Amino acid sequence: MRILIKKGRIIDPSQNLDFIGDVLIEDGKIIGVENSIEIQEEVEIIEAKNFWVLPGLVDIHVHLREPGEEWKEDIETGTKAALYGGVLRVACMPNTKPPNDSPEVTKYILEKASQKGYVTVYPVACITKKQEGKEVAEFGRLKKAGAVAVSDDGKWVQNSEVMRRALLYAKNFDLAVISHCEDMNLSKGGQINEGYFSAKLGLKGIPASAETIAVIRDLILAKETKKPVHLAHLSTKEVVSFLKWAKEEGISFTAETCPHYFTLTEKEVENYNTLAKVNPPLRTEEDVEIIKKALKEGLIDVIASDHAPHSPLEKEIEFEYASPGMIGLQTLLPLSLNLVREGYLTPLTLLEKLVLNPSKVLGIDPPSLKKGAPAEIVIVDPEEEYTLTEDILQSKSKNTPFLNKKLKGRVKKVILKGKVFDLTFS
Ligand code: DOR
Repeated sequence: MRILIKKGRIIDPSQNLDFIGDVLIEDGKIIGVENSIEIQEEVEIIEAKNFWVLPGLVDIHVHLREPGEEWKEDIETGTKAALYGGVLRVACMPNTKPPNDSPEVTKYILEKASQKGYVTVYPVACITKKQEGKEVAEFGRLKKAGAVAVSDDGKWVQNSEVMRRALLYAKNFDLAVISHCEDMNLSKGGQINEGYFSAKLGLKGIPASAETIAVIRDLILAKETKKPVHLAHLSTKEVVSFLKWAKEEGISFTAETCPHYFTLTEKEVENYNTLAKVNPPLRTEEDVEIIKKALKEGLIDVIASDHAPHSPLEKEIEFEYASPGMIGLQTLLPLSLNLVREGYLTPLTLLEKLVLNPSKVLGIDPPSLKKGAPAEIVIVDPEEEYTLTEDILQSKSKNTPFLNKKLKGRVKKVILKGKVFDLTFS
């Protein structure tokens, strides 16, 4: 089967390409990328005028909740939400039930993903057994089973000696180490950002230092062990100056933030809105501005969703009992496009943070529009405006503060594994 995508804006960070042209696909493979391709034979034509033609996004921070919490999400629904969000590869976090600290769980995830998954799934295994922060998991066996990275996401490895050993051990097995940067002694019992709103609402605050201290410790260990660390979901202005310092020191690290940290502020929780309860918490306007500048300056390399589904059972309750997290696979691209609209990023530098850099963190070949590459293509209308209603959301859980809000930028079609998915929703 031949497919010809006509007159789209082709943006591919793997080749530094941004031009208007055509893409020809045959039997699931890209066979031509040119200014103009004319063919006479039978071909399915996709008109992409005014649309962007992109390699599939790679989201390295996703909670698929399987095994163990399938009432929130499962591999089938989570990867369907990914497909609709233009995310064609996801790395799934290990805080499942049981946690992914064994080859059995890793293999279960991969097997289920191969049967039910809409997109490619890369399991992230635990740094420590049961995510208890005490004993380093068996990285060799986890890697052999298919894990691409390790993380205790949801928790920081509080014990510095354990983390140091984990970095050295991960280096041997070429596994990425993703750190959830939160000093849990400082954040304990915290509900929202510490500041004006925590005082006003009478909720215990989480100070910025909980994140900063964790980031500094991890950077120091990365320097000493010469093993790069990936710093997940950064939210505070304070960490940015330390990222700058680490670059000057030549420390190897990568840093990530999520759309909610450059879009929303702590004000969202003013009415005790549990949909805006997330960990780390939403911060201040000043934090948002500095996170955006850090993206622009290249201090933050990766944008990931931290897709964290929770059901009404965990969200429609008193604020302090509500679980932190929001879904994000279908808002990742529209919210990130605001960075281009506001002039912080160009389309190419945005795609670096959504495709190329996350692939580098995991050590995988990035999705690409190169001739000969498998077609993993997303066609987007960057200008289309719509309201994010529940029926648009493919995730089992609908916990997002963007529900019923206007978004701009919509995934129209996906080409993956030789199939065309027409995702246009009305
Ligand atoms: O808000 C969050 N939710 N942050 C995390 O780090 C974990 C996640 C979850 O698993 O729900």
